[in-house]
Amino acid sequence: MKTRFVLKAGLARLKHIFGKNTPLRVLHRVTSRCNLRCSFCDHELHESKGKELSTEEIKECMNQFARLGAIAWGITGGEPFLRKDISQIIRHSKQLGFLTNIITNGTLATESQIAEVSSSLDYLVTSLEGPKEITDKIRGQGVFDKVVHTIEVARRNNLPVIAAVLLTRDFIEAKGLEFMGRFSKEMGIRCSFQNLLLAGPYGGRGFKEEKPKIVPHNPDKQTLFEALDRILYMRSLGYPFVNNKPWVDYVKAFMNKTLKPPKCFAGKLYCNFFEDGSLRTCQYHPLRIKKETIGESFRSLPGQFSDCPCLAICYINYNLAYSFNFSMIMDGFKNTLGYRD
Ligand SMILES: C[S@@+](CC[C@H](N)C(=O)[O-])C[C@H]1O[C@@H](n2cnc3c(N)ncnc32)[C@H](O)[C@@H]1O
Ligand code: SF4
Ligand code: SF4
Repeated sequence: MKTRFVLKAGLARLKHIFGKNTPLRVLHRVTSRCNLRCSFCDHELHESKGKELSTEEIKECMNQFARLGAIAWGITGGEPFLRKDISQIIRHSKQLGFLTNIITNGTLATESQIAEVSSSLDYLVTSLEGPKEITDKIRGQGVFDKVVHTIEVARRNNLPVIAAVLLTRDFIEAKGLEFMGRFSKEMGIRCSFQNLLLAGPYGGRGFKEEKPKIVPHNPDKQTLFEALDRILYMRSLGYPFVNNKPWVDYVKAFMNKTLKPPKCFAGKLYCNFFEDGSLRTCQYHPLRIKKETIGESFRSLPGQFSDCPCLAICYINYNLAYSFNFSMIMDGFKNTLGYRD
C-alpha cells in the first residue's frame, strides 16, 4: 500500500524537528554523459571527470540508503539510458521498496527495455519542449518522434508517464500549453512544467552567474506569468497538469524578488547522489561529499546557505509540503497514492 510512504514521510518530518535527518528521497544522477546537446543545456561542461560507480557499488549504496530510511528513488542524468545496467538499477530500487521514477530524454530506451522495467517503475518522466518543431529545434532533429514512440510503448506497458516541459519562450509563443493539454489527454499522460533555472548546475559554470546559453530561451516576466496563470486555468478545466497554485505563487514571488527565503530541506530530508558515489545537498550545492559510508556522507552534508540563489525553486513541492502547506500536502497525497500499486 502506498499509504506507508506517506506515513514514513510524516514520521521523518517529525524526527527532523528533533534533529534527526533522513534521506527520504534520493535523486540519483547515474551518469553525466548524454547523447543529446539541447540548446539550453551545458551538461558537457559539468560532465564528471571521475569514474562512474559499478553496478554492484551502486546497489551497495542503495542498500545503505534503504537502511537510513529512504523511500523514494529518482534516476536522472545526463541520459540515464546510456548506462547498460540501467534496468538492473531500476529493478534493485523496486526490490528495496522505493517509489521509483526515471527522467529520460526518451530517445534511447528500446521497446524491450521499457517492457522490462515498466513493472519496477512507478512512473517515467520524459522531457519534451512542446510541439515537434520546438522540441526538434531545442533537442535535435527527430527527437519529438522518438519521445512520442517511447511514451506510446510505456503506455502500452501500463507505465504512467509525466512529460517534463520547460516554459521556454519558443514553447509559449508556439501555443505550447494548448498543445500539451491536447497531447497529454490523447496519450493518457500527465504534464509537469518547470520554469528555466538561469543559474546553477546545468551550466556548470558557477553558482550564481546566469548562463549565456539559457538566457535567450527565457520568456519575459509578463509572458511567463500569463503562461503560469493559463496552466492553472487549464488545470481547472481538467487538463492533466501537475503544477498547482502554491507552485505558481512561489515562482511568481521568486521572479518578483518578494519571496522570503524559505526553509529548504535539501540535505535534511532529501539529497542528490552522484555517479562517482559522492553526495550533494542539492544539485546546486557546490560541495561534493564522499566519506566511507553513505550515512557518514549524508550526515556531513551542509544545509541551505543564507544566500542560496535558488531559494529552493527546484524543490518547491517538497519544501512546501514539508513546511505544512495544505494544498501541496493534498496534491502530494493524490500524486503519490495515484501511482499504481
Ligand atoms: C538534466 S535533464 C536529465 C535527464 C534527461 N537527460 C532529460 O533531458 O530528461 C533533467 C531535466 O532538466 C531539465 N533542464 C535542463 N536545463 C534546465 C534549466 N536550465 N532549467 C530547468 N530545467 C532544466 C531538462 O529539460 C530535463 O527535463
Ligand atoms: S537536457 Fe537532458 S537530454 Fe538535453 S543535453 Fe541536457 S542532459 Fe542531455
Ligand atoms: S535553497 Fe536551493 S541551492 Fe540552497 S540548499 Fe536548497 S535547493 Fe540547494
